[in-house]
Amino acid sequence: MAEFVLPKNSRIQPGKTWPKPQGATRLKEYRVYRYDPDSGENPRLDTYFIDLDDCGPMVLDGLLWIKNKVDPTLTLRRSCREGICGSCSMNIGGANTLACTKGMDDFAGHISVYPLPHMPVIKDLVPDLTTFYDQHRSIEPWLKTTTPTPEKEWLQSRDDRAKLDGLYECILCACCSTSCPSYWWNGEKYLGPAVLLQAYRWLIDSRDEATEERLDNLEDPFKLYRCHTIMNCAKVCPKGLNPAKAIAEIKQMMVTREFA
Ligand code: SF4
Ligand code: SF4
Ligand code: FES
Repeated sequence: MAEFVLPKNSRIQPGKTWPKPQGATRLKEYRVYRYDPDSGENPRLDTYFIDLDDCGPMVLDGLLWIKNKVDPTLTLRRSCREGICGSCSMNIGGANTLACTKGMDDFAGHISVYPLPHMPVIKDLVPDLTTFYDQHRSIEPWLKTTTPTPEKEWLQSRDDRAKLDGLYECILCACCSTSCPSYWWNGEKYLGPAVLLQAYRWLIDSRDEATEERLDNLEDPFKLYRCHTIMNCAKVCPKGLNPAKAIAEIKQMMVTREFA
């Protein structure tokens, strides 16, 4: 399990314990990080009790139950509820994951819920991902070509298409980058595992014609080479991807072209 580090702006205080739901016989305790930078108050951990007979089985179901039935001020991101949009990523029980695909059953005791670690917090469970998205934009995540666009479509062999497996599934949830110690300490300069996996996805695409330009853009002491193969990224990825392997492949491409 990835080591848990508190969010950047955290001096957590004991928070409020909300009343147990009346008449409930099966309860689940949630301890949830609460922080509103505009309030001027320190972050706190609030305790809630969920009626399991009135709630779906996933951690996200519990958070929405709290928001709908107990405390509407609790703030979080979510959209698809089925592990596709990547917006409900948070730190649950000490590991980054998606709240919508993590079952409450995985936790014998209480469930602790924090925002993704080491990012500025906008409110409660919502981290500020501006830098992360800027970094994604910086690798130009789209097809770049110089030959004229074909009338119908860009063709690709089955074998070349298969090279994108394990890459195209990335939902940019940022679980990997925010569990990477190198990204914690150099997040402004090191691109981090998610963005580098995306960079490799375009480097390896047989239809793309900007490989040299893309490699030039990554040839930098910080952008790529801060990965020290600690492997937290591969351990936490909720889609089972391996960003560390993609990073190693980019490094290999750098070496190959140097000696070409
Ligand atoms: S590689 Fe996995 S953990 Fe990282 S952003 Fe993509 S889906 Fe999320
Ligand atoms: S393998 Fe590289 S990218 Fe992945 S967690 Fe470790 S340092 Fe970060
Ligand atoms: S709500 Fe979309 S991935 Fe969880």
